[in-house]
Amino acid sequence: MRWHLSHSRKGSSQRVIFLGILASLVVSVPVGSHGESAKNDTPVRYLPDLKVWVLDTARASYEIGVNERNELQTVYWGEKLSSDHGFSAARSHPEHASFDSSETMTNSEYPGWGGKYYNEPTLKVTLADGDRDLVLKYADQTIRGNTLVIRLRDIQYDLFVNLIYTVFTEEDIIRKQAEIENRTSQVATVESAQSGVWNVPQGEGYRLTYLTGRWAGETQVTREPINPGKKVLESRRGTTSPELNPWFAIDEGGEADEQHGRVWFGALGWSGNWKLTVEDTPPSHQVRVTGGYNDFDFSWPLQPGESLATPAFYGGFTKQGFGEASRLLHRFERSEILPDHAHPRVRPVLYNSWEATTFNVNEEGQKALAEKAAKLGVELFVMDDGWFGKRNNDHAGLGDWYVNPQKFPHGLQPLISFVNSLGMDFGLWFEPEMVNPDSDLYRRHPDWVMNFPGGPRCEARHQLVLNMARDDVKEYIFGVLDKMLSTNDIKYIKWDMNRHFSEPGWPEVPVVEQKEIWVKYVRNVYEIMDRLRAAHPKLEIESCSGGGGRVDLGILERVDEVWTSDNTDAFDRLRIQEGFSFAYAPKIMSDWVTDVPSLNGRSTPLKFRFLVAMQGALGIGANLNKWSTEDFALATRMVSYYKSLRETVQGGDLYRLFSPREGNSTANEYVSRDGKQAALFSFLDSQQSLWPTPTICLRGLEEKALYRISTIDDKLMVPPGIRVAEGVSGSFLMHHGLDLNLRGDYDSTLVILERAE
Ligand code: GLA
Repeated sequence: MRWHLSHSRKGSSQRVIFLGILASLVVSVPVGSHGESAKNDTPVRYLPDLKVWVLDTARASYEIGVNERNELQTVYWGEKLSSDHGFSAARSHPEHASFDSSETMTNSEYPGWGGKYYNEPTLKVTLADGDRDLVLKYADQTIRGNTLVIRLRDIQYDLFVNLIYTVFTEEDIIRKQAEIENRTSQVATVESAQSGVWNVPQGEGYRLTYLTGRWAGETQVTREPINPGKKVLESRRGTTSPELNPWFAIDEGGEADEQHGRVWFGALGWSGNWKLTVEDTPPSHQVRVTGGYNDFDFSWPLQPGESLATPAFYGGFTKQGFGEASRLLHRFERSEILPDHAHPRVRPVLYNSWEATTFNVNEEGQKALAEKAAKLGVELFVMDDGWFGKRNNDHAGLGDWYVNPQKFPHGLQPLISFVNSLGMDFGLWFEPEMVNPDSDLYRRHPDWVMNFPGGPRCEARHQLVLNMARDDVKEYIFGVLDKMLSTNDIKYIKWDMNRHFSEPGWPEVPVVEQKEIWVKYVRNVYEIMDRLRAAHPKLEIESCSGGGGRVDLGILERVDEVWTSDNTDAFDRLRIQEGFSFAYAPKIMSDWVTDVPSLNGRSTPLKFRFLVAMQGALGIGANLNKWSTEDFALATRMVSYYKSLRETVQGGDLYRLFSPREGNSTANEYVSRDGKQAALFSFLDSQQSLWPTPTICLRGLEEKALYRISTIDDKLMVPPGIRVAEGVSGSFLMHHGLDLNLRGDYDSTLVILERAE
């Protein structure tokens, strides 16, 4: 069953959705009853004698139990426990002192803020009568297939929490989600709503890996030991943000590498204000990660009968290092998250006009670029910013989503038909959530931006943020986009967002509801995307926020591709793309080949730029009017190589062999899921003293299989006796390895392996 809580509505309708789901779940077993435990090859089992649930994936087990105080407790998370004799019941941790209660020492699965609990809570509520003490105990459970719903109730009030666990067996991933239901007769104001907690085994010496960055420098791998206290990773900016990404990995002793070591990892599916609290709680040295909506400036009054659903919080475990953790997530995204998960499609080779023309787009110029792009083998032509309203620079036009009549006197359709006649699909840039003060929309509706009445409206890139939490604004934006898609043959939207929130006021609703803006904004953006996709089933969407500022497992349910960074410098991209690949699949990582010198003034050869960009969803963003005949020849060859191995790059397993963070060589290998093809991308950035590039031992091949080797140039140093065209054993390739003659600055090569049948 592929189901999880809808983010589309608050209140009674959401409650109906949830109760509908509960009604469809058939097995309901009260704890303590002596039912038969299910066979141990089912993803969710209840062991009644122990009062525990076992959530089994292919290689990992997650165990939850009800302890003697009737609290829900994490019992185990790690390598698969293969025998039922290996399970234990939940038992609370003894009190350490009167200061450190048993409740706070025990690994609660979903701790409310109340009683003697002092760690990060998952839920904090104030009732209208002033009561702020929330102590959640087990109520009942329902199991169906790979889904377990456990229901908790406050010891005093009819406040319920439904914890929904879904097991993704093959990818070793479990999804947690919570729904808070107010069945009291008074308003319950939720002040913190987290999706859940991931507790790793008790102990010291853990290390945290996470992704930091900024505009033009996203997804940088960052590592540090986890010490007592809290480390908060978060966004308070309204969207996911390039500064921090809602993904984490924790390894033991800081000793895991790409191939070895126990790694616990997780990610939040939410594109608004989020928070991950990594906590090493004294005095027990218990490391846990709590995640969900950011509780900063958060307040959600639940009327009697209403409910609030949290984002999905995913967790996984592997004992095969960070490489396998990433591969599991990539597979999971491809097979469960992305819009094409049921019927995967390859990502087309894309051309984007932005770096070539910036705002100076017109029919003639775009047609000239399209003609050249088609000759290279491009399949999707995307016109970027500048085509609408009075958009000649970034000072005006956002919000006016009508075609600029000077630039396109006959509308867009002549250009689109021309692009289609060249065999390419057409895509268009929008920034739907924004408005320039110099726009017709803002002049008509100055109240549509988020604001505190009478206060300043801070601009960034000369633009303001529309209050997408308002349903009238949502409907207007949906209508405008839907009309554009209905009247033009647009297959692809690049959906941009070029600033973060400021003055998040919503004066039109009662003060007590105004802080809901953070969540409702995101839900409405999701809803627009979902409705557009439903109305235009062939539509694809790219998520962009000045680069990779909005990539997370929430937006990825509704977009096909992500713009990785506005920094297209190929050398910088090696690190950005490496970090991206820790959490996100290469398939969605949009990479363009652009002109040099790049943003930072650096020049790299065209081959190097292509090979960097071919490691994800290849695009070209150069000014093709300036390319030489040699550039065209090389580019055409590279696009054709890419097409011959893109299913392997986009749908295969990635092995990061040499990291750009460690030395001057980078190497990445992709192996197709059927094992028939592998591609090795290798880069050298600044050779010194003629030191050769290290021998590269491949991974993920079959020891005894033979692989035919081909290369795009003469960089492979073939040892005597090895016949590359006839076949070299996987064993040779993985243990002896390959030597490549890369030299000087920004040298690179591609080696392709085909398994001989
Ligand atoms: C953002 C995007 C760019 C481009 C510009 C257009 O910066 O990241 O790719 O679309 O906006 O204004």
